[in-house]
Amino acid sequence: MAARAPVEVAYEVAPPGIDLSVYRSSLVVYVNGARVDVPARESDVLLLDFLRARGLTGAKLGCGEGGCGACTVVISRHDAATGEARHTSVNACLMPLLAADGCDVTTVEGIGSTRTELHPVQQRMAEMHGAQCGFCTPGIVMAMYALFLNNPKAPVELIEESMDGNLCRCTGYRPIWDAAKSLCADAHREPAGAEAATQAERCVTCPHKDAAGQNGACSHAHAHDGGAGAGAGAGAGEIEACAMHARAAVRSVVSSTANKLAEMHAATPYHATKAAERDAARARLPPELAAPLGPLRVNAGRLVWWRPRALADALNLKAAFPHARVVVGNTEVGIEARFKGQAPAVVIATQDVPELRDAVFTERGLELGASAPLSSVAELCERCAHASAVCEAAAQMLRWFASNQIRNVACLGGNLATASPISDMNPLLAAAGATLEIASAARGARLVPVRGFFKAYRTVDLAPDELIVRVHVPHAAPRFEYIVPYKQARRREDDISIVTATLRARFEPTADGWVCADAALAFGGLAPTTVLARQAAASLVGERWCDATFERAAAALAREVRVPDGAPGGQAEYRGALATSFLFKFFVHTSLRLGEAKAEADASAARALAEGAAPTRAPLPAAPLIAAAERTAARSWVTEPKPATSGTQTYAERLRPLPGLEQDKYPDAAAPSHAANGNANGHGNGTAAAAAAAAPKSGQSGQSVPHAAANLHVTGEATYVDDIPQPSGLLHAALVGSQRAAARIVAVDATAARAMRGVVRILFHADLPGKNDLGPVVHDEECFAEAVVHSVGQVIGIVVATSVREAREAAAAVRVEYEELDQFDGGSTEGRPIISIDDAIRAGSFYAVTDHTLESGPAVEPLLATAGAIVVEGEFRLGGQEHFYLESNTTLAVPTEGGGLALHTSTQAVAKTQNLVAHVCAIPAHKVVCHMRRMGGGFGGKETRSVPFSCAVAVAAHLLRVPVRLSLERDVDMQISGQRHAFLAKYRAAVLPASSAAADGSTPPPKLLALDVQLFSNGGCALDLSGPVMDRAIFHLDSCYKWPALRVRGRVCRTHQAPHTAFRGFGGPQGMMVAEAIMEHLACAAHADPVAFRSANLYAQGDETHFGQKLELWNVPAAWEQLQQSAELAQRRAAVSRFNGEHSWRKRGIAIVPTKFGINFTAKFMNQGGALVHVYTDGTVLVSHGGTEMGQGLHTKVCQIVAHALDVPLSDVHIAETASDKVANSMPTAASMSNDLYAMAALDACEQILKRLAPVRKSLPPGAPLKAVAAKANFERVDLSAHGFFAVDDARCGYDWALEPPPRKPDGTPDNARRGLPFNYFTQGVAIAEVELDVLTGDHAVLRADLLVDVGSTINAPLDVGQIEGAFAQGVGLCTIEEVVWADDEHSWVQPRGRLLTRGPGAYKLPSFNDVPRDLRVGLMQRVANPFAVHSSKAVGEPPLFLGFSVFMALRDAVRAARVEHLGASAHAHFTLHSPATSERLRMACADRFARMAVELNGRGDVGSYVPKGSF
Ligand SMILES: Cc1cc2nc3c(=O)[nH]c(=O)nc-3n(C[C@H](O)[C@H](O)[C@H](O)COP(=O)(O)OP(=O)(O)OC[C@H]3O[C@@H](n4cnc5c(N)ncnc54)[C@H](O)[C@@H]3O)c2cc1C
Ligand code: FES
Ligand code: FES
Repeated sequence: MAARAPVEVAYEVAPPGIDLSVYRSSLVVYVNGARVDVPARESDVLLLDFLRARGLTGAKLGCGEGGCGACTVVISRHDAATGEARHTSVNACLMPLLAADGCDVTTVEGIGSTRTELHPVQQRMAEMHGAQCGFCTPGIVMAMYALFLNNPKAPVELIEESMDGNLCRCTGYRPIWDAAKSLCADAHREPAGAEAATQAERCVTCPHKDAAGQNGACSHAHAHDGGAGAGAGAGAGEIEACAMHARAAVRSVVSSTANKLAEMHAATPYHATKAAERDAARARLPPELAAPLGPLRVNAGRLVWWRPRALADALNLKAAFPHARVVVGNTEVGIEARFKGQAPAVVIATQDVPELRDAVFTERGLELGASAPLSSVAELCERCAHASAVCEAAAQMLRWFASNQIRNVACLGGNLATASPISDMNPLLAAAGATLEIASAARGARLVPVRGFFKAYRTVDLAPDELIVRVHVPHAAPRFEYIVPYKQARRREDDISIVTATLRARFEPTADGWVCADAALAFGGLAPTTVLARQAAASLVGERWCDATFERAAAALAREVRVPDGAPGGQAEYRGALATSFLFKFFVHTSLRLGEAKAEADASAARALAEGAAPTRAPLPAAPLIAAAERTAARSWVTEPKPATSGTQTYAERLRPLPGLEQDKYPDAAAPSHAANGNANGHGNGTAAAAAAAAPKSGQSGQSVPHAAANLHVTGEATYVDDIPQPSGLLHAALVGSQRAAARIVAVDATAARAMRGVVRILFHADLPGKNDLGPVVHDEECFAEAVVHSVGQVIGIVVATSVREAREAAAAVRVEYEELDQFDGGSTEGRPIISIDDAIRAGSFYAVTDHTLESGPAVEPLLATAGAIVVEGEFRLGGQEHFYLESNTTLAVPTEGGGLALHTSTQAVAKTQNLVAHVCAIPAHKVVCHMRRMGGGFGGKETRSVPFSCAVAVAAHLLRVPVRLSLERDVDMQISGQRHAFLAKYRAAVLPASSAAADGSTPPPKLLALDVQLFSNGGCALDLSGPVMDRAIFHLDSCYKWPALRVRGRVCRTHQAPHTAFRGFGGPQGMMVAEAIMEHLACAAHADPVAFRSANLYAQGDETHFGQKLELWNVPAAWEQLQQSAELAQRRAAVSRFNGEHSWRKRGIAIVPTKFGINFTAKFMNQGGALVHVYTDGTVLVSHGGTEMGQGLHTKVCQIVAHALDVPLSDVHIAETASDKVANSMPTAASMSNDLYAMAALDACEQILKRLAPVRKSLPPGAPLKAVAAKANFERVDLSAHGFFAVDDARCGYDWALEPPPRKPDGTPDNARRGLPFNYFTQGVAIAEVELDVLTGDHAVLRADLLVDVGSTINAPLDVGQIEGAFAQGVGLCTIEEVVWADDEHSWVQPRGRLLTRGPGAYKLPSFNDVPRDLRVGLMQRVANPFAVHSSKAVGEPPLFLGFSVFMALRDAVRAARVEHLGASAHAHFTLHSPATSERLRMACADRFARMAVELNGRGDVGSYVPKGSF
């Protein structure tokens, strides 16, 4: 952020025409009902900063650009337009505090707390597992609160429409939907499309399926257990239990949205709660705010804020301060201030000026005040939609404009004046023929048609002294005039458009047919301004409405709005295709509407005739005939209601410790002692008698309980690093980052920055007290760059100042001179930074040390040449993925006595942080203590990449001996903290067709023969964890299929991107994605049914993987069959096929994928963990362990296991934080291993304590509680603390790549088993996804997803389900909408080369609420055990992520159907579809005539083989 110049105006002198005496000079602001005095000089801050500085840290800073909703609060103010109080959710990160004048701000702390009472919204969110890391949760709670405050009897449908302004990266949203819907007045009503699991479905997952009766139904009738079972914390769903389940000490839980809602409704809908009464009382504004306040003028130092209440004043102010910014919602100005350093010095806030504020419907049209909030405009348009086509269109477009929070403050005037080429409302206003009333004090009012308002890129016909006062939007003709908005964005909700349009046409009936009398085709996203396609429109006017007219207009439009290849914004051909596709949609839409009009008129005439009346009008002409299959072309998500979503979770819940389940099922499996379930009182020690003896205490292992911090999450009381109260003398830091990639640093000049206000110190590499080299494995990074920078954003120095703003302004003011770098550690940069994998391959830029080749079976080359084999060759590319943890990297470094340091940091790697901080500060490790209470998400992104930032701030705190905090801005974090690796796979693969027909005459699917793959990953400019990530990709390249011969070589490319790093799945998903892409290619080439082909080639129990590990406890084949049955795959594939035959422009696809995910760190030494358990004399227990809590519920599960071991209720066990002085030398929390490691370590500690307590226990009466035992033991000088330790069995971890020569079997083939076992066991699963694709736009929806996952015997089913659903959502994001874009050859319009374009929620799209599968069914496999992990459980964090790829394969299936129809391709023709399958890639792959037109116009070759650009 650049510094602002002091304002050079005499503020105390009234500008001409302004009566200063009526202006107030200070704000009136209430927070949570209490008035807060804000000195004028302290008022130039954002509302979020103001609240957080006051200790109200529930509202979080997630992005600072209005895109995530973490900062959501509710503002209540008097609405002069209605005379009533108005309550709206807003983004506190964009709202200036000065704009909150006259408001009562309600924060999450104001609605409920753990000390008093939770608000119903908070309560439901906590109980129904709506929070994992909890960072997004207060914002979501506040968005819901606003909704119910305004609509106490909100119906479910309204909820589906109202959560567009909040993102959650952890949960996958389904539990949040359920929590919100459970409060709805009609929650008892089953939402459309939400089917509770049928009896047959329940039986499919019933453990007694084997004893099934007729038709697959269980012979043990399921009975509702609405009593004791229903309330047992299973998400309060419907509990299904058959008699045998009960006896077996497990119950099968089928918990669907529908029955959860019914139950919650029975509990209490929001409007019937006491809180609703309290809220209603609070909704009455404090008396001071209940009437309009006078105008305001605040001199805040570097900013003067005027808030006039009369138009004359506003105009006089604009005349006096022509360069003042008009600010209403601040959603544009705030972004400019943040990203371009264009903070205004004088602001005129116009939302109280009546002429600008009011929005009304008149006979002539809409009169919309330029400052009216868009939400008010939307409400008006919705109310009047029936009366005017324009209102209907505006209401539809506004539903998809930004988010609720943005619409509540932003205005039309802001959208117009900003003149963004991708504005959504400007094309609508232009197409509608709207006129602007513009006024100035000097020249009065003038009218300007919107069509003439936009002059050039972000340049409008508005003089500096003018204001837009209002917008006149004329009504459309009452009959035969249609106006339809279209929008295509990367994501439907809260996204700016790629192309947006509003198309309008008026028709007249003639004897010759329908004639287009008038047309306006307005587009955004195709040129530097909103454009009207005048030639295309002219080609319509006066013409008969028919196919030929449309074709002429489409051709004219394609030429008129052609986006040249390489144009800024990219996606040139896609944008062109969208323009003609929208026109086609409009043609079909209007033709259908005209047809309906004729049908109605004919029916009315027929009725009249039947009644004997003479026809009064000539019959209407026939509309163009639209074939039934073409009709869905008219559909658009913009004009459709948001669909209902629902979910079902099915799992077994342990009622009692499992009596020897492992031995029952796997008599041969020698269960290691650590997998035992026994506890202090002998429960569950393997005997049925003991199992029957007693039920476990509340919350122990196996029971469904909410996340241990759930109540803290929902109340905003959960403390993250940035929420820690400021220590005295706290200073703030900002990083000086490189502006270039691959450059030599010639000079650094910090003179100007040092002189800036508030700057305390600026540090560079020369200031380091210790060593400058860093890195998690190899030290190939620098804390502060010395001579060379490798990537944009690389840290060169750190500024320490008295405020965050000052630190950031000074960091931006440091001048660095660079020089082109042409050598890159011996390799050539080709004179420019190496950005992509292709660049690196060309330049030969690899990390040689990580090169690994794995071969199994006979040599692949001869097999690939086998006579009769079907061989394919191809490549598959996968883009990277942003972690987008909601909490960015933050560290607070506090000097401690004796020259030590305490670090409070958001990291997955406590010990690594400690060690490297000691290294750069030159202090011993024992003087550095690293504390981590909780993270707002990590997903692997904080496994190593948080450490360099902690080191930088630690150096500052150490040198200055004062506390310093560094919290990275979202865009900085994204630019420099690394991502999931992009991959390129080049492969050759062969199958052998069956030599003879099966008994039934069918052709058996071909068998896999040989596979040869070269994997390349984009490692970035430092090694980080790229080596092990590649290794895991290599290990997962088989997915679940048996390849007789396989060779894979993995090479990590060294590029000038930020170092890429761990991300949930750690290369495993990439390996399996490649595997599935190859399977698909082979199925096509062999003309094989893809499902049967996969089934025929699945591994069987006992098979050996390509790395030589024998598959034990192999459950994938069973899950594969079970899920196909329960999801009715065969029937649904037939239905999809029928649908596709009947619809040309909508295609459905369905796919099934399996997964097996190896559990272990692949580095052997990392498979260890420690824990410290203290038992206190009151019987409560404090646990510390080496793992960190980032939302995955690790602490909850460890506590459950400890509670079980010590036989105490869960409430008696607590974990406060992770700290390097409690458990030393811990491994990063990663690889999904933490529960396996730390719960076992904690168990070890418990066992030690129990052993010491045994004699004491014997001396007490049987069943004595721990409190009594501990008190006595303490008296008898027995140690009540123990350090526990666990290491995975030596034989079950570690793979020695270095074993040379590679071991061979007697037949000469590689014996990879002798290199060791990389994995302890596999978490397994299967998913089926069904999607629907809009061929014309590339938009898609997941109609249904079924997941069946083997997580062993679950310790806490809802937490496991939460991990599965969250991982699935992340996996779907990875392969669909989450596209990373770098400034590379494919995107040369982004500069400088090597910069990341997708650096915030505006440009990078995570799945949002609307992306949840409409029907999501998650099941945990039952009666599966795992003797290799604690309590027979399995790791769950990463494995399900790959199941999201089922959506990619289903989309591929849909595209294939489109290509068959539109390109005339064979159903078996292979085509290229790289990941992610963005709307662009999907739409263009459909290769229809509109895609062809755009591709050919740009000379980009043949549409059938056209591949859109991408960053890999
Ligand atoms: C997260 C997010 C999502 C968004 N999504 C969308 C989207 O989906 N579609 C879309 O089109 N836009 C979107 N936007 C852009 C933005 O919200 C709109 O442009 C909005 O209409 C701006 O209104 P505002 O009141 O916030 O403008 P402000 O930021 O207050 O002002 C913007 C500009 O307009 C000028 N201005 C305002 N009123 C007047 C007036 N009466 N006379 C003269 N000048 C005036 C101001 O001086 C300033 O230059 C999004 C923005 C964000 C942050
Ligand atoms: S922090 Fe405000 S919307 Fe993200
Ligand atoms: S719980 Fe939503 S971001 Fe973590």
